[in-house]
Amino acid sequence: MPELDLVVRNGTVVTSSDRMACDIGIVDGKIAALSARLDRGKQEIDATGLYVLPGGVEGHCHIEQRGTHGVMTADDFYTGTVSAVFGGTTTVLPFAAQGQGESLRRVVEDYAACARPKAVIDYGFHLIIADPTTQVLEQELPSLIQEGFTSFKIYMTYDRLRLDDLQVLEVFAAARELGAFVMVHAENHDMIRWLRKRLLERGHVKPRYHAISHPRVGEGEAANRAIALSRLIDIPILIVHVSCEQAMVEIRKAQTAGLKVFAETCPQYLCLTAKDLDREAMEGAKFCCSPPLRDLASQEAIWRGIRNGTFQVFSSDHAPYRFDETGKFHAGPNPHFTQVANGLPGIELRAPLLFSEGVGKGRIDLHQFVALTSTNPAKIYGLYPRKGSLAVGGDADIALWDPHKEVTVTHDILHDACGYTPYEGMRIKGWPVTVLSRGRVAVQDGQLKIARGGGCLLKRELSTAARPLGVLEQEMDPAKNFGASVLSSRVAQRT
Ligand code: URP
Ligand code: ZN
Ligand code: ZN
Repeated sequence: MPELDLVVRNGTVVTSSDRMACDIGIVDGKIAALSARLDRGKQEIDATGLYVLPGGVEGHCHIEQRGTHGVMTADDFYTGTVSAVFGGTTTVLPFAAQGQGESLRRVVEDYAACARPKAVIDYGFHLIIADPTTQVLEQELPSLIQEGFTSFKIYMTYDRLRLDDLQVLEVFAAARELGAFVMVHAENHDMIRWLRKRLLERGHVKPRYHAISHPRVGEGEAANRAIALSRLIDIPILIVHVSCEQAMVEIRKAQTAGLKVFAETCPQYLCLTAKDLDREAMEGAKFCCSPPLRDLASQEAIWRGIRNGTFQVFSSDHAPYRFDETGKFHAGPNPHFTQVANGLPGIELRAPLLFSEGVGKGRIDLHQFVALTSTNPAKIYGLYPRKGSLAVGGDADIALWDPHKEVTVTHDILHDACGYTPYEGMRIKGWPVTVLSRGRVAVQDGQLKIARGGGCLLKRELSTAARPLGVLEQEMDPAKNFGASVLSSRVAQRT
């Protein structure tokens, strides 16, 4: 074996399935050896008393992206990735978001050009498809998927982004043919529109009405509809940022029926409630996100879903907008609830919050923690085993966690550019004290050790999770193999 560049010694190595007392040897940024006792390396890190975990994989964040209100996020690819790595995350998957009439190819090139000189850790892009023209689905998407942009998100709400059911079916069919993986923002658009109109007509403008205008029944209905549409086309989907039991039971039901429906939830749905929207003055605007914060019973339901495996992915949905005229108040100092930029920051606290509230409080074990924050998103988004594991040959993306370190959250200790944290004052036990990115010491002793632009754009594989179940012919007409013919992009002769 060549001389090791770096040895992480004396730690407790924990993956989504195993726990071992062993050293990790690193050569050229990759894991080269796992052994009870390794020879000295050129560099050494003593991990006595620490958990040695795969670096986090953040499957859902918005960085240097114009949001649904046209407002730019506070974080660019430098501050966003610095904040991520301080929270134990070593890979981020933000979005390359298409606007109406825009070329998807051009959008990806623009985001990649923004990220290249700034990102400190590795990154890929999910696509957001808001305008699924024939050109986009048949020309641009196939080549982008081949180049490693193998997943995309679609929206069932938001005026600028939403697809109607017919468009959803077209996009699902394209995903099936190309082997891409689809994430769905599931909320019922017309329920939201109707409630908003009624509330505004009656003078209800404060942030608290944001939650009331995004009802749980609408989240459940849209999840059910997305599942039904995906069932017709026979593609797996992942429902993102699930906030409530109504959506969760639809997902669970589909999973029980044997469908490949995956689900994601986020720290805000475990740690915050709609009461936070009621804070004095306009403070509530800090807590406007969609789906909105719910109540304590919803938090308990989501914890149940995390424990019983309904959720595979735990993401931050980091969408940081400053508490000023460049962000939350882009429409003026007293916006009504529909004008507040939607989204919360959380990329740095994502894993520490789950560690503290989940592992620390006995709700999940350490293996589930690793699976939810690292291994599962790596698998689902085509990065495993390069990311999300501690296997020989994989990237040496490693987070060393001190399970006893206690931290009181204030925005001062964080590294994003949002200017506030919704988790201000929370006590967290368990913290990533040293983080390695491809074998480079990225964070140590509270200091950033890696340079701007050191992150790489990742070429992702087709997700194995994206493989159809093969139920389509059954759903359609097995005798005529009608399903396969409908799905093919080739138009057959009349029958
Ligand atoms: O409010 C949120 N979640 N903003 C980010 C955009 C999205 O839908 O994920
Ligand atoms: Zn969304
Ligand atoms: Zn999002």
